[in-house]
Amino acid sequence: MSKLDTILAKPRPDADDLAVLLGAHVPAEQARLLAAAYAVKVREVGAVVYFRGLFELSNLCSKDCLYCGIRRSNQNVERYTVPVEEILSGARWAWEQGYGSVVLQSGERSDPAFVDLITELVTKIRALSHDQLAITLSQGEQSEATYRTWFEAGAERYLLRIETSDPDFYRRLHPADHSWERRRDCLRLLDSIGYQLGSGVMIGLPGQTVEQLARDILFFEQEKVVMIGMGPFIPHADTPLRDGIRNFAWKRHAQLTLALRMIAVTRLYLQDVNIAAATALQTLAPNGREQGLAAGANVIMPNLTDPKYRTAYQLYDGKPCLDESATQCRGCLEGRIASLGETIGFGQRGDSHRFQRSKDKLRFGQGE
Ligand code: 5AD
Ligand code: FES
Repeated sequence: MSKLDTILAKPRPDADDLAVLLGAHVPAEQARLLAAAYAVKVREVGAVVYFRGLFELSNLCSKDCLYCGIRRSNQNVERYTVPVEEILSGARWAWEQGYGSVVLQSGERSDPAFVDLITELVTKIRALSHDQLAITLSQGEQSEATYRTWFEAGAERYLLRIETSDPDFYRRLHPADHSWERRRDCLRLLDSIGYQLGSGVMIGLPGQTVEQLARDILFFEQEKVVMIGMGPFIPHADTPLRDGIRNFAWKRHAQLTLALRMIAVTRLYLQDVNIAAATALQTLAPNGREQGLAAGANVIMPNLTDPKYRTAYQLYDGKPCLDESATQCRGCLEGRIASLGETIGFGQRGDSHRFQRSKDKLRFGQGE
């Protein structure tokens, strides 16, 4: 048996096996890896895809990450904030369609007007959906008081990508005043407040190794991450990392397959988490997100932002669906999901099984 098949025959890979799996780029081996991950997904969380309606509500950002197209120093973007009413009508549409959750994402700001805006949106989305829509926030690093205010207003889930679990590598991708430790502490705060915790990394960053990616997966487990969103790094022309990957055009396929293996290995190791098939996958192949589902992902985040804002929310170059409206996006996705033999979990919140189980354990422990 090959090394790969020996690992795949175990009930769950060991921590030391992860880098070997991530490096399995020979097509026949990769196919066996992805198939094994798909089987674990079906067993643990079912052949069901959950939709999260994504609203990119503002591209104003106070940070300056070296890879990101909406970084503060990029003067070539027109900055916008979507009016409250537009977000609310989008959220109402998502609720009527049977979406279980919406994600409010934006650049990072922490001024009082912004904190109030998010509180207002959370409160009103809860009300208009009769508490049925689960709300996921993705507003970056905030104070404990802000996280608590939003949680008390009714947000239950929070996405904060650690980007890489390696602090030294993080420092190379960010200006000196961005802190990996502060970000990690935010994850711990969010978990302690009671949010369902989401995080993730970028895959295929310049100089990143499979050993680092393996440690990223261990980091998710250590930090009690139950929702994972990660996607391939794609250079953006207006950022310092524009040439981070030489001849990127030739490396698109390699970036895509590495990202798919990262999804698969995360599924094999963490088993019952929710994993999103990131939109960035679709930049690298028209059916990239479906390939993500076939590699073990179980969440898709259809972009419900009004197309008029979308070109201004380009975190990376070549972001797909820049001019499609929400209904068009829905039509194209549903057909492709059905062709995979999966159903869409309409009318269900699709909480992370891992989160549910950890809550149950806690409850059981307290009852003893
Ligand atoms: N390529 C891929 N993903 C990126 N992000 C930001 N810039 C890029 C890029 N150039 C991701 C980061 C961030 C998320 C919102 O988008 O991981 O957390
Ligand atoms: Fe906005 Fe990184 S550039 S958070």
